[in-house]
Amino acid sequence: MAPLSHSPLSSLAGKRLLLGVSAGIAAYKSALIVRLLKQAGCEVRVVMTEGAQAFITPLTLQALSGEPVRTSLLDPEAEAGMGHIELARWADAIVIAPATADLIARLVHGMADDLLTTLCLASEAPRLIAPAMNQAMWRHPATQRNVKQLATDGWQLIGPAAGDQACGDVGPGRMSEPAEILEAVTQSFVTKNFASPGSASASAPHVVVTAGPTREALDPVRYLSNHSSGKMGYALAAEAAAQGARVTLISGPVNLPTPQGVERLNVKPPYRCTKHRLSRPPKRRCLSAARR
Ligand SMILES: Cc1cc2nc3c(=O)[nH]c(=O)nc-3n(C[C@H](O)[C@H](O)[C@H](O)COP(=O)(O)O)c2cc1C
Repeated sequence: MAPLSHSPLSSLAGKRLLLGVSAGIAAYKSALIVRLLKQAGCEVRVVMTEGAQAFITPLTLQALSGEPVRTSLLDPEAEAGMGHIELARWADAIVIAPATADLIARLVHGMADDLLTTLCLASEAPRLIAPAMNQAMWRHPATQRNVKQLATDGWQLIGPAAGDQACGDVGPGRMSEPAEILEAVTQSFVTKNFASPGSASASAPHVVVTAGPTREALDPVRYLSNHSSGKMGYALAAEAAAQGARVTLISGPVNLPTPQGVERLNVKPPYRCTKHRLSRPPKRRCLSAARR
């Protein structure tokens, strides 16, 4: 399972995910992505490019997703009711993993020459993409131009990672691991639902979480403190925000990113949370995190 901090998997339950798979060596990992999405409670439908079927069979992804896998745009049976538009409207989000250099180039140019590119053009859902390719292909100016353009067009890039490659090279271009892709998808829903602090509805409960260590000065140089990492409080704040609460996180000195949709107040020296907690009383609900 992905780490709890900033990864409220509950935000994926019931979501409809369209997974696009293109013809890269990392296509075998798409089986694990389907498994993870299903475990997180998503409905998953898979669309493969023609080339992807040389790397992993539609039958495998059909068995794992529990849904027929679509591979062809010009399919008279599936298109009896304009299936590609229906599928584009069905998706709460589109995730392409792995995305080849070729597919990325086609997406950048708005091409609709197969089912996957057509769906991407016809959908208004959030779109995430995990590039996967040889390091030289990734570094090529054409690919770099293309991924920049994708980001400008609203695609959320996941990775790629760097390291050993199937071809024997070492460098950037490896597809991010399935667990990281799941984390990115989860985050995209949290971000979408609770994009900024204060975006929860006015009637939402207000949750106050304290996290991180306190410090009690003994003299101008020395202090008494504890081993709190702040992780538990940050995870609780992330989950509360994902559930729709208005969240204020009163934080001691820790090096953790602020969860999406959470208002963070950094406690100033001498790092005592009590004053903040009492001066900002929540109207409807209060939660004070254990400091672990
Ligand atoms: C064995 C093999 C592995 C490949 N791996 C990759 C890859 O990891 N990334 C990539 O961008 N292209 C890779 N290619 C090239 C793509 O398969 C090729 O560009 C194809 O046209 C992409 O089709 P698609 O984008 O429609 O799926 C590979 C080709 C072969 C023969």
